Amino acid sequence: MATYAATSPRLHLQTLSEELHLHDLHLINSNPQATFWSTKKVATDIETTRAYIRTSLPTEEQPWNGRWAILLRQTPELPKEGKLRMIGIIGLPREQEIGYKLHPDFWGKGFMTEALLLFIQMWWSMESRLKYDRLLAGADSENKASQRVLEKAGFKKGEFKRGFYARATLGGRKGDMQFYYLERPKGLNGEVELGRKSEKEIIFGVKDC
Ligand SMILES: CC(C)(COP(=O)(O)OP(=O)(O)OC[C@H]1O[C@@H](n2cnc3c(N)ncnc32)[C@H](O)[C@@H]1OP(=O)(O)O)[C@@H](O)C(=O)NCCC(=O)NCCS
Repeated sequence: MATYAATSPRLHLQTLSEELHLHDLHLINSNPQATFWSTKKVATDIETTRAYIRTSLPTEEQPWNGRWAILLRQTPELPKEGKLRMIGIIGLPREQEIGYKLHPDFWGKGFMTEALLLFIQMWWSMESRLKYDRLLAGADSENKASQRVLEKAGFKKGEFKRGFYARATLGGRKGDMQFYYLERPKGLNGEVELGRKSEKEIIFGVKDC
């Protein structure tokens, strides 16, 4: 039986693995729209995506380095295989700093806001995360969709850094970064206002991470 780290009305989060997610993640990483703001180039072959997964796992030196697949709970086109469609990825590419992306076929439906709210609750509820007092996120100053997602999930505007990161699509030129932060909640699982009322429905499943 499949194991999920957390569950919301429309989504599951599942710890990223090569075995389960290589194909769907490649559909995302090879999509120029999905990788438009990334420091990494579009993945042109599946081996690049395989290597991405292998460097996205926790290690002894970097125990915080984790990624979760965002799975759509209802996937009408794939019921026979019993495999849910992975529509996006979320996790920590850097200590204390969150990153995410979604396949463009699923943009504009509130999925990333739902996934982020779910992730936040899951992440803060893990004991190993309690040493942190805030979670960070950086969005390109022109990436309004991502900034809006962060604001909807309760993040506050932090530092602005000009020419902060090398965006692959800028051909070496540096992009400006608007940072956001979310303070550690005072309580967990429902005691904290993390977003809009409708998102309070979020529930938890088995934690596999
Ligand atoms: C950013 C991204 C994750 C958003 O996913 P999504 O599921 O479409 O997001 P949601 O539907 O939850 O919310 C998007 C919000 O941004 C708004 N938005 C979208 N494009 C916008 C734009 N150009 N200007 C202003 N707001 C915009 C939407 O209207 C929505 O806000 P609303 O609910 O108030 O109407 C998705 O576009 C993506 O994967 N982009 C490429 C990768 C990326 O940018 N990752 C983040 C790097 S920091």
